[in-house]
Amino acid sequence: MTLLSQLSDRFGDAFVSLGLDRAFGEVGISQRPELAQFQCNGALPAAKPAGKNPRELADEVIAAIGDRAAFADLSIAGPGFINITLTDDALADYVDGIARDDRVGVPQVEPKKVVVDYGGPNVAKDLHVGHLRPAVIGESAKRTLGFLGHDVIGDVHLGDWGAPMGQLIVELSERQPDLPYFDPLFTGPYPEEPPVGIDDLQEMYPIAAGKAKDDLAYRERASRAVVELQDGRPGYRALWQHFRDVSIDAIKAVYDRLGVHFELWYGESTINHRLFPLISRLVEDGVAERSEGALVIDVARPGDTKEIPPLMMVKSDGATLYTTWDVATIEDRVEEFGADVMLYFVDVRQGLHFEQVYRAVRKAGIVGPDVVLEHCGNGTVNGPDGKPFKTKEGGVMLLRDLIDQIVVRAAQRLDENHLAEEYPADERAAIAEKVGLAALKFGDLHNHRTSNYIFDIERFTSFEGKTGPYLLYGAVRMKSILRNARDAGLAPGPIVAATKDAERNLMLQLIRLPEVVHRAGELRAPNHLAEYAFELTSDFSRFYEACHILREEDATRQTSWLGLVALTLRSLEVLLDLMAIEVPERM
Ligand code: ARG
Repeated sequence: MTLLSQLSDRFGDAFVSLGLDRAFGEVGISQRPELAQFQCNGALPAAKPAGKNPRELADEVIAAIGDRAAFADLSIAGPGFINITLTDDALADYVDGIARDDRVGVPQVEPKKVVVDYGGPNVAKDLHVGHLRPAVIGESAKRTLGFLGHDVIGDVHLGDWGAPMGQLIVELSERQPDLPYFDPLFTGPYPEEPPVGIDDLQEMYPIAAGKAKDDLAYRERASRAVVELQDGRPGYRALWQHFRDVSIDAIKAVYDRLGVHFELWYGESTINHRLFPLISRLVEDGVAERSEGALVIDVARPGDTKEIPPLMMVKSDGATLYTTWDVATIEDRVEEFGADVMLYFVDVRQGLHFEQVYRAVRKAGIVGPDVVLEHCGNGTVNGPDGKPFKTKEGGVMLLRDLIDQIVVRAAQRLDENHLAEEYPADERAAIAEKVGLAALKFGDLHNHRTSNYIFDIERFTSFEGKTGPYLLYGAVRMKSILRNARDAGLAPGPIVAATKDAERNLMLQLIRLPEVVHRAGELRAPNHLAEYAFELTSDFSRFYEACHILREEDATRQTSWLGLVALTLRSLEVLLDLMAIEVPERM
């Protein structure tokens, strides 16, 4: 049990003994650290049901706390807040307990089956800056929920079934009409070698999209091709499989470099076999209805404050679309995995789409009322002008180029700071890669996921301030302190009562980890991890300045301090790992 839940329990008991609800006993970190370590504000809301004034009630609550050995102070402040301060022994005891716990004090929750849908790249398009936030935030949320004990599966949900597939087929058929994929009489087998690489696809994609926009005949051919593809025309399927494979190779390379890993590489196409039975059922049940040749689901509800248009299931040309596949994918996630929770890390601008999809699956009874469906929207990465980030030339910024840029700057930062100076070249390069990625990810994650932020390479790569490199430097320093101590024959020992403010503050910071991780998981908000990791690292610096470990003469104190270093390092490593940030051994 976490320290805050233990304290909440004790205060809860006190409220119960006065005939009041135990929820009033909730204890949190003090808002006024100069006055107390913790506080319980329950006497204020409980005063009314108790028929007492809050200060009088707070007095009774304190009196009802039995054994007070753990408390250095219990007092009332202001209108009836209870200020709580532990003895240094009690605090050290608790911290020593988490130092011995391989989960650094973070309790596991009742496991739920969680599917995390994030990434959302598309066939034939290399990852660009717009894919950064869904990837890093989704990965962090997935790792956090997994660490808390949930059974999590990440699915990339590749965009592989839409109109662009038809456009690419038509475009290639114009360029290389003799390929067997276009010959309806060809009986196979189709060549194993892909007829195009990712660069060809990237080049064809905008051209084909442009033609489909301007040229009616081309557009009609492309729509026919996509319907035929979806219906299973063998040549188109074989060709599409190549498009998909070469795209995945390219996309995966960038995700790998980012430390973003998906359990499933499913796509919009994966549920194709479900579409016909699902649509027929929805029609039979009267959930889906005809409208101007199309099939739609009315998802408006009485009391809607904005208009929620009907969800399109089948277009008038017979093609299914983005919404259809998301509906069927939810059915798949329920039936295949028994998903209790489905989270979608996708740009906030797709809010209406998810609202329609979630309403449709509830209306159709595809998910039960207890299943959680959540669109965890993200804001955009902007340039210095406050508009979505572009290359200098105003084009789309590829994610691989963005990573290269920040890694180059990180290498310069190492030079400027005389770090990793005489290391072998390959180790230096590996460190620069980690520092650059830490800069990129932390720069992203410390913003709330729904906010937009400005991509500021100078600020992100700095070793000072609230940055990824600052955290890495902190973690590397902790490692080197422990190494030097070991070389001097010293090992971390039991954690004993603090004697210095900086030491006590570090302990009070360390005990917050469980609640922070829970909050980050519950709110799908990794910025809580980022913020806390920064505070922890800063408090560690102050502790390290105040407590001269290697010079300390009292052996118990010295090994206790080393114990704090080891615990801080483990806590920071957990946090960094939850943000998918890797730490070098030294720098
Ligand atoms: N591929 C989509 C796009 O580029 C994002 C997919 C998000 N996930 C989902 N289940 N709809 O907009």
